[in-house]
Amino acid sequence: MAEKGKVCVTGAGGYIASWPVKLLLSKGYMVHGTIRNPGDKKNAHLKTLYKALENLKLIKADLLDYNSLHAAIEGCVGVFHVACPVPSEHIVCAALSTSMYLEEEVEMIEPAVKGTLNVLQACLETTVKRVVFVSSDDAVLMNPNWPRDHVMDEACWSDKEYCSETKNWYCLAKTAAESKALEYAKETKLEVVTVCPSLVIGPMLQSTTNACSLVLIKVLTDGVDVLENRFQNFVDVRDTAEALLLAYEKPEAEGRYICTSHKMRIKDFVEKLRSMYPNHNYPKNFTDVKEEQVLSSEKLQKLGWNYRSLEQTLIDSVQSYQDAGLISKD
Ligand SMILES: NC(=O)c1ccc[n+]([C@@H]2O[C@H](COP(=O)([O-])OP(=O)(O)OC[C@H]3O[C@@H](n4cnc5c(N)ncnc54)[C@H](OP(=O)(O)O)[C@@H]3O)[C@@H](O)[C@H]2O)c1
Repeated sequence: MAEKGKVCVTGAGGYIASWPVKLLLSKGYMVHGTIRNPGDKKNAHLKTLYKALENLKLIKADLLDYNSLHAAIEGCVGVFHVACPVPSEHIVCAALSTSMYLEEEVEMIEPAVKGTLNVLQACLETTVKRVVFVSSDDAVLMNPNWPRDHVMDEACWSDKEYCSETKNWYCLAKTAAESKALEYAKETKLEVVTVCPSLVIGPMLQSTTNACSLVLIKVLTDGVDVLENRFQNFVDVRDTAEALLLAYEKPEAEGRYICTSHKMRIKDFVEKLRSMYPNHNYPKNFTDVKEEQVLSSEKLQKLGWNYRSLEQTLIDSVQSYQDAGLISKD
């Protein structure tokens, strides 16, 4: 089991990573947070977190610069590897079923796969006991051979060839990075636990928008003509942070964990938002889609994970966008 002590969070200033940083500080951990640009004001929120002054050390590191990662990880007993390029076009288009921008293969794969191996090697060469790796449901869902009527659990992996054929480099990057991380763990006996969140929504701690927050903001503001009415899996960013901490602190945690809490058709999601906030500019029409893959977080729940209601997530998200001046206050 990973003992409580100093831990490192990679990409600490990002949307998701900021929440485990906050949670870890609130629980008395000393945190090393890696960021690429310490001077950038988009990371300023980290310094305002409770206990940050005493217990948070921000360290400049890039996933493709091994020495910088080694320096950040040295002295830590645990690592939360969250950093990865997240193309906003991919997340927004995939969630809103619009045509997908095909991001550059090399920009995605290198930092995701080589970067993860750099993190793991630095962990092995220092005193790290356990690594929690943030993967994605994109490493689970892209599997055309999975039986349609079977729930997708941790045994289901996205098909790398299929991701490659469809030029879905983000899915390929997450799948390759996660599978390499688990292989590395087997070979070296380093403890690696992976968590695969679905679309993460919820309030932002940082001052700039990120890809998945844009999904909800666009639903509230863009008034697009047509959306595909497909199923979407959602999870709250704070519940995701709790899942990462469980994966770190629970001695019995092992392997992969799908992390998702609410699943609904996009049309029902929009109607729910509309009933709570009637004065926004919502999508107008929906086209029918048959696919219906069901993801299960049963394994994570058995580890002790709970999640808040979708209503609470939406209320807190909208409040956070209003406070940041990103949407109107009605
Ligand atoms: N958001 C979702 O719905 C979702 C769902 C499932 C999984 N995930 C995963 O969750 C993680 C965080 O995503 P997020 O939504 O929080 O996105 P985000 O806010 O864009 O955070 C990504 C972080 O990765 C850092 N990063 C990117 N390339 C890097 C590099 N070469 N070296 C060092 N750091 C680098 C970024 O640093 P800079 O600020 O310097 O660019 C940023 O801190 C990613 O691994 C993503 O795949 C996200």
